[in-house]
Amino acid sequence: MRALALLVLLAHPAVAEEGATLFRLHCSSCHAIEPGAPAGAGPNLEGLAARGVAGDAVFDYSPALQAGREAGRRWDAASLRAFMADPDEAFPGSWMSPAGPATAAPRDAIARFLMGEGG
Ligand code: HEC
Repeated sequence: MRALALLVLLAHPAVAEEGATLFRLHCSSCHAIEPGAPAGAGPNLEGLAARGVAGDAVFDYSPALQAGREAGRRWDAASLRAFMADPDEAFPGSWMSPAGPATAAPRDAIARFLMGEGG
């Protein structure tokens, strides 16, 4: 029963909306997400689900993320959650400082927003 309630909650459109709001709050000072928008301090994150790690052609990534691209790594909700929680652990030497919310649930909402799940 509890698992079902959680599924209903996760599928609710308000969660996607919350992800967008949380993204604006925690991430948009450095990251654009609109197609074609110039990179800020961080790369444009448009279409993250469909591209590999370090996929903004005009952004100058750290060697850590460039190595991820060369290894063919891709983003998914789990890797995004881990990166938000501790960028340096997910990609040692990454130039991004921990920036996400302090707790797992809002990080998950942002990850699903970025993967376009219901967003
Ligand atoms: C203070 C600026 C700053 C903030 C705030 C910030 N980031 Fe970043 N982000 C960066 C930088 C710089 C990089 C490039 C890191 C590198 O090259 O190692 C990056 C890289 C990324 C990448 C890799 C993109 C790719 O093309 O592979 C993702 C995903 C990401 N950030 C997600 C987030 C999320 C989600 C948030 C909000 C929770 C966030 N960032 C907040 C600066 C920031």
